[in-house]
Amino acid sequence: MSAPAEANQRGYWGSGLGFVLAVVGSAIGLGNIWRFPTEVGENGGGAFVLVYVIATFLIGVPVMLAELALGRKTQRNPVGAFRSLAPKSGWGLAGGLGVLTGLIILSFYSVVAGWTLKYTWIAVTGSLHGATPETISATFTNFIRDPWAVLTCHLLFMVITIRIVLGGVQRGIERAAKILMPVLFGLLLLLVVRSLTLPGASEGLSFYLKPDFGKLDSVVVLKAVSQAFFSLSLGIGAIITYGSYLSPKHDLVSSALTVSFFDFFIAFLAGLAIFPALFSVPGLTPDAGPGLIFVVLPNIFNAIPLGNLFGAAFFILLAIAALTSAISMLEVVVAFAIDELGWNRRRAAIAAGSVIFLLGIPSALGNGAVPFFSGTLEFANQIFGGMALVVGALLVSLFVGWKWGVGNAVEELERGRGTFRLRTVWGFLIRFVCPLAILTILLQLLRG
Ligand code: TRP
Repeated sequence: MSAPAEANQRGYWGSGLGFVLAVVGSAIGLGNIWRFPTEVGENGGGAFVLVYVIATFLIGVPVMLAELALGRKTQRNPVGAFRSLAPKSGWGLAGGLGVLTGLIILSFYSVVAGWTLKYTWIAVTGSLHGATPETISATFTNFIRDPWAVLTCHLLFMVITIRIVLGGVQRGIERAAKILMPVLFGLLLLLVVRSLTLPGASEGLSFYLKPDFGKLDSVVVLKAVSQAFFSLSLGIGAIITYGSYLSPKHDLVSSALTVSFFDFFIAFLAGLAIFPALFSVPGLTPDAGPGLIFVVLPNIFNAIPLGNLFGAAFFILLAIAALTSAISMLEVVVAFAIDELGWNRRRAAIAAGSVIFLLGIPSALGNGAVPFFSGTLEFANQIFGGMALVVGALLVSLFVGWKWGVGNAVEELERGRGTFRLRTVWGFLIRFVCPLAILTILLQLLRG
C-alpha cells in the first residue's frame, strides 16, 4: 500500500510479544484501577460488574478484533484506515471522532495520572503513615484544591508521555510495558489479600459481587458497557493504530483474547482490593467519586507492615500503567498528524501533547481550585470517556460488519494464524449483536 513503515515516520513493533505487551499496556491503566472501582461504587456494585463482564467479552472482544483487522490491513491511523477502505465516503469522520475523543480523554486522564504521581511522593515521604481515615480524606481534598500542585503534576505527566512518544513505537512504547506490568500485578494481589482480611470485609465483598438487579437502568448499562470499552482502549482507534504497526505474521485473535482477559482480571482484582477495605473504614462510602481510590488505598497501606514502601511502589507502578495507556492515546493523534498532515513525529507529539495539556487545565482545576471549572473532569469522563466511545465502537462495528465486510475482515484475521474457527460467531456478533446492543442502549437513553 505504501512505502515500508520503517522508511517513513511510522515504525513497526519489534516482536509479537512486544506488540501484545504494548496492547496490554494500553489496556491496563487508570481505567482498571481508578475508573472501574469508581464506576462500580457509583452505579450500584455487583449488577454493574455483571454487565461489565458480559460487555467485555460479548461486545468488547469482537470490536477489538475489528479494530485490529482495520489497523493491520490499512497500516494507517484511524482516519486513514476508514478512508482507505471506503474512499470518498463520509467514513473518515468516524476516525476523526476518534482522534478528537482521544485528545479529550487524555486531557483528563493526565490529570488523574498526575494525582498518582503526587501519591507516590506522599507514600515515599511517609506523610500519611499512621494517619486516621479523616486525615487521609482531608489530605486528598486539600491536594486537589491546590491549583499549582495539580497543574504541576498534570504537566509533569504530559511531559513524560510526550517524551516517550517522541521515541517512537519500539524504543519508546515497547520497552516501558515489558517489565512493569507483572510487578503491578504482584502488588495488586498483596492488596487484595490484605483488604479481604480486614474486619468488615464481607460487607464490601457482597456489595461488589452480589448483583442487585433493581439498580440496573439504561444509564447504568450504558456506563458498564462504556467502562468495558474504556478499559479495553476501544472506540477511538487506539487499537487500529497499534494494529497498524504490526506485521502480517502475528496472530490477532489470540492477542485480542489474551489482552481482554488480563484487562478484565486486573480490574476485577482492583475491585477486590478496594471494596472490602472501603467497608472496613467507618465514614467512607462507595460513591465517593473520582477520589475513591485515593482515600481508600492509604488506609490499606497503613494496615500492612512496611506499608509506605508498598504504597510507594504501588502508586509509581500505577503511574507507569497510566503512562503506557496515555501513550496509546497520544499515539492516535500523532499517527493521524504523521499520516494525514505529513508532520514529522517530533512536531506531532509536541503539538498534540501541548494542546492536550491545555485542554486538561479545566479538569485539573475543577475539583475545588476554581469553582468556575467545577465538575469538568466528571463531565469529560462521562461524555468522552463514556458516550463517545460507545458511538465510536458502534461505527467500527457497522463499518467492519456492513461496509468493509466480514469476509475481508476474516481474511485479515486469518493472516498469521490459519483458520479462525469462530469466524461465523464473530461475524454474527460484529454485524448484529454489537450494533444492536449499542443502538438499543442509546435509544433507551434518549427516551429517558
Ligand atoms: N484503557 C486505558 C485504561 O484502562 C485507557 C485508554 C488507553 C483508552 N487508550 C484508550 C481508553 C483509548 C479509551 C480509548 O486506563
